[in-house]
Amino acid sequence: MGKPIVVFGSFVVDLTGWTEDLPQPGQTILGKNFKMGAGGKGSNQAVAAYRAGADVTLVTKLGCDMLADVGMHFYEQEGMNTEFILRDKKFETGVALIIVSQKSAQNEIAVIPGACGHITVEDVESCRKLIETASIILLQHEINLDAQRMIIDIAHRAGVRIVLNPAPAVKVPDDILSKIDTVTPNETEAQTLTGIEVISYETAEKAAGFFLNKGVKNVVITMGKMGVFATDGRKSELLPGIEVEAVDTTGAGDAFNGGLVTAFSEGKSLFEAIRFGNAVGALAVTKAGTAPAMPYRSEIEKMIGEILK
Ligand code: RIB
Repeated sequence: MGKPIVVFGSFVVDLTGWTEDLPQPGQTILGKNFKMGAGGKGSNQAVAAYRAGADVTLVTKLGCDMLADVGMHFYEQEGMNTEFILRDKKFETGVALIIVSQKSAQNEIAVIPGACGHITVEDVESCRKLIETASIILLQHEINLDAQRMIIDIAHRAGVRIVLNPAPAVKVPDDILSKIDTVTPNETEAQTLTGIEVISYETAEKAAGFFLNKGVKNVVITMGKMGVFATDGRKSELLPGIEVEAVDTTGAGDAFNGGLVTAFSEGKSLFEAIRFGNAVGALAVTKAGTAPAMPYRSEIEKMIGEILK
């Protein structure tokens, strides 16, 4: 097992409906299936890391309602540590409204973070020691930004490696970027953060230059079918994605990020860690759902073994 990872992020209940095509604005269409399950970028990434074999602790916040039971039940079934699952008496557990097209496996998502949008100074203080003793902290943008800033400051002061998956896309202030070790946007998030349209190796390299200039050490831009662009400022590479039959692409980025930090925690290099993350992401899209679709270590190793053959 690698060094300890903390994922500080959202849990929300995913309410997912499967339809033939995605609806147009103002259009009502008939769906085929519906499922309710554990979701939220933070939670999904922690589950991906946990199933990939990492020593990971999730910090998130639930309400005190029926939807919170969905999360608690899932973590207990998985055997995950629930010590840092915070509760809010006032705000409800968040939800995500998701539609997945059965034709394209693409999705549309609206997230309502609920309790995760109300992480207080006291909440963060209650996790200070956990953050300070971590080797890596993984963050996203589904918790309130003032809490995120406080977490980053604590981690940075303690010399913890900070990985930021800037999803959903929100502009990140320069003083925050300067504390980030690795940033992992997809191509549209990279565009929102840098103003550069990422459509090729050259444009990805340009967008990466924006982050490097702000002090970020590693830039990893996931570019869908094109693969993953990565640079550590000395070496840049576009690593190919792994072709699989996709059933549901929801949570693919979460799977990738969970895999990436797992590999980092085991001492793998940036480019090795991306290969590992790619396998986790590829396996996750072959199943429906988000957290429940995350692959186990044995499946990941099998896929990597087959690629290396
Ligand atoms: O990245 C996928 C996740 O984004 C879903 O699980 C949904 O909860 C949203 O937060």
